[in-house]
Amino acid sequence: MGGLARRVSYIKAFKHRSNLEVPTLVVDAGNLFTDDRFTADQLPGEVMTKNKWVVKGYGDFHHDVANISWIDLPYLTELLKKDGFAKRVEEYPFIERLVSANIEPVDDQHRKPIPYVIREITLKRGAPGQKVRIGFVGLTEAKPIGAADKQNVYAGYRVNDPFEAAKKVLPELKQKTDFIVALAYMPMADVQRLATENPEIDTIIGARQTSTMDEPQHFNRATITYAFTQTKYIGELRVYVKGDGSIENQLNRYIALDSIIPDDAPATEEVTAAHTEFTNEQNKAAQTSQESAPPKPVGLLGATDSPYVGVETCAGCHQKEHEVWLTTRHSHALATLEKKNEQFDNECIRCHVVGYQRGGFQSLYTTPQFANVQCEECHGPGRKHAESPAKGYGFMATPIGCMQCHKVPNDPDFAFAVYWPKIKH
Ligand code: HEC
Ligand code: HEC
Ligand code: HEC
Ligand code: HEC
Repeated sequence: MGGLARRVSYIKAFKHRSNLEVPTLVVDAGNLFTDDRFTADQLPGEVMTKNKWVVKGYGDFHHDVANISWIDLPYLTELLKKDGFAKRVEEYPFIERLVSANIEPVDDQHRKPIPYVIREITLKRGAPGQKVRIGFVGLTEAKPIGAADKQNVYAGYRVNDPFEAAKKVLPELKQKTDFIVALAYMPMADVQRLATENPEIDTIIGARQTSTMDEPQHFNRATITYAFTQTKYIGELRVYVKGDGSIENQLNRYIALDSIIPDDAPATEEVTAAHTEFTNEQNKAAQTSQESAPPKPVGLLGATDSPYVGVETCAGCHQKEHEVWLTTRHSHALATLEKKNEQFDNECIRCHVVGYQRGGFQSLYTTPQFANVQCEECHGPGRKHAESPAKGYGFMATPIGCMQCHKVPNDPDFAFAVYWPKIKH
């Protein structure tokens, strides 16, 4: 949700600059919903809320099509439940712009998503009234588990072989369209295989790993571009068409959604409303868990089960290091997110706190003691050491550890020799 306001603002500016003469389509290559803390068959309430705002936001700020990746499946099972489907679509029409050619439900209570959508655009510079039909087909890899294995059934949906699915659906789509775009949530090698095996494809927009591609690649007939995994960049693919409707060239670039791009006011309003509801849900969740376990005060929930102890405990014996730490930006990394109203965005939190999803930080309400980039984020969980310091720490902080967070795209300029002196303790 983070970059929505700037993304919308950029797209509006682009349309405006071209006097609305360049037809523009907004697409997402997959992983728009989160499967955060999905267990057996349920997403936590506040995660549902966050996803709900994504469907709403994508619809309200007109996204044309989105690919369904395996990560989207836990929320998709809610959206595509047959029970109440028509009503849901009425409320969130964007549901009908979610595509996948290689997933299907394992039961008969859920709908199969549509494999593709077709958008028709009119070329201002072509022959008068000349239309181009563009087909968007969605494909995803199955959930990777371990180095080579995949989990084919996830959240009530089966992920079929994307290569077989592509071969089945593309000839049919070719009949109906002039230009085919495959949205592919899979690693680069698989994206290239898709291009090699399917001459029908004109363009593939891949997603899944951080892009290092500046220029589009050409494989077989297809042009390949790759989307960024985070919302800090928007990818722009320009397709230049000759007078006769054939493709002349395709160029792409990434636009950093930094502070130069203003936040779109209506989108900001919606993001703020989303955050407010999300915050209330978190409050409610914190209260409920308090009521079911009354002896634990908020702020210490789960504390003793955690392998982490938190910076206050370290400070008790390492006063000098603590004083240094307080002067570094690591000590207020969460406040930085709060200023941006992103303190509940899991995409962001993991690098701005200690031990996220590893028994440390859960939320500001349940575990405020684990906010910010603390000692244990670099030194490792310290409960054992804090209980018996004489044994040493058992783990050495290293420059490699810094690069878990100080890496592209968040910090492309990181150099240990420059950064370490700023936080040396
Ligand atoms: C009860 C006091 C106490 C607490 C709490 C404590 N330490 Fe220590 N720490 C020590 C002592 C004493 C040493 C020196 C041990 C030695 O010389 O072998 C030490 C050593 C270390 C070292 C050097 C270890 C090594 O192997 O050379 C690191 C790093 C460290 N502490 C980090 C932390 C962090 C991070 C925390 C909080 C998670 C923490 N300490 C909490 C007392 C403590
Ligand atoms: C868990 C993620 C994480 C790790 C690991 C991490 N950092 Fe950071 N670092 C951050 C974040 C987030 C900020 C920005 C905080 C802010 O401004 O609110 C930051 C900021 C900094 C800054 C301030 C940058 C500036 O321009 O002033 C320095 C210096 C720094 N880190 C050095 C290091 C070093 C050296 C290491 C490894 C020993 C390291 N960091 C490990 C997340 C991390
Ligand atoms: C992979 C780890 C990582 C993730 C994920 C991450 N950050 Fe950061 N963030 C960093 C590091 C490292 C820095 C410090 C960079 C520097 O200034 O040297 C930082 C700095 C910042 C800063 C202060 C510097 C600036 O650019 O203004 C803000 C604001 C920020 N992050 C917001 C976010 C938001 C919002 C998200 C989620 C969309 C996010 N971060 C996700 C690692 C991360
Ligand atoms: C951003 C990462 C980072 C953070 C945060 C951090 N440290 Fe460190 N710390 C390091 C690195 C890297 C070293 C140097 C490792 C080395 O030389 O053994 C170090 C060294 C130390 C040492 C000296 C170890 C020795 O053997 O000389 C102690 C003690 C220590 N840190 C404690 C702390 C405490 C306590 C905090 C929190 C108040 C903290 N550190 C926060 C990365 C970090």
